[in-house]
Amino acid sequence: MTPSPEASSSELIKQMKQMVGIAAARRVKSGMVVGLGTGSTAAFMIQELGSLLATGDLKDIVGIPTSFESIVLGKKYGVPIRTLDDVSKIDIAIDGADEVDPAKNLIKGGGAAHTREKVVDTIADTFIVVVDSSKLVDKLGSTFAVPVEVIPMAIAPVTRAIEKLGGIPTLRMGVRKAGPVITDQGNMVIDVKFADIPDPLALEQALNNIPGVLENGLFVNVTDVVLVGEIKDGVPLVREF
Ligand code: A5P
Repeated sequence: MTPSPEASSSELIKQMKQMVGIAAARRVKSGMVVGLGTGSTAAFMIQELGSLLATGDLKDIVGIPTSFESIVLGKKYGVPIRTLDDVSKIDIAIDGADEVDPAKNLIKGGGAAHTREKVVDTIADTFIVVVDSSKLVDKLGSTFAVPVEVIPMAIAPVTRAIEKLGGIPTLRMGVRKAGPVITDQGNMVIDVKFADIPDPLALEQALNNIPGVLENGLFVNVTDVVLVGEIKDGVPLVREF
């Protein structure tokens, strides 16, 4: 049976994510402290780190997780897990993104993990973003809303403040779970659609200045390297920018 166009396109996206996750893991050197990102692309990177450790091609690394999910994957694939209390620095962090603009600024938080991700990714000596080519945009906000993590008692005033900033807020609801998504910190997420984000840094700061907001998914001036998985003439390849 021939696969439907949707099925083959999701298979191609999976291939691109896998390739780019593996390419990023191969940049890790023995002895490094590695920030372990969250999401389906970062999962391939964590799996590859486990394989490299198992074959002895990589030794003595430790992983600093960015979510409950990355703790689980680190344990599953045999990557030793530590906390930020155990290390004095992070050598390299590898994480996915929902949008990447030409200045390497990002929107993250599709998995509601952006708060821990920002803590880990911003302190890493080198931050590598791993995406498939569908994540590249000319302007942030064109395809994805900005996730904002909010403490539950502040949902109503934060929603009003976001509207005053010109955003259209939607409380993120669970899938196969009644009620809102609850983050690893016990908070909620408001996804905010903006018609235009002319100044991502100013918006990142304005959102974080609203009392009750813990963190938002705009990552500005943080990324060192973007690895993009692409399919060119039917052949999967990884490009760096
Ligand atoms: C998690 O909250 C996100 O920031 C992810 O890193 C982002 O959504 C990318 O996920 P995928 O690699 O699954 O597309």
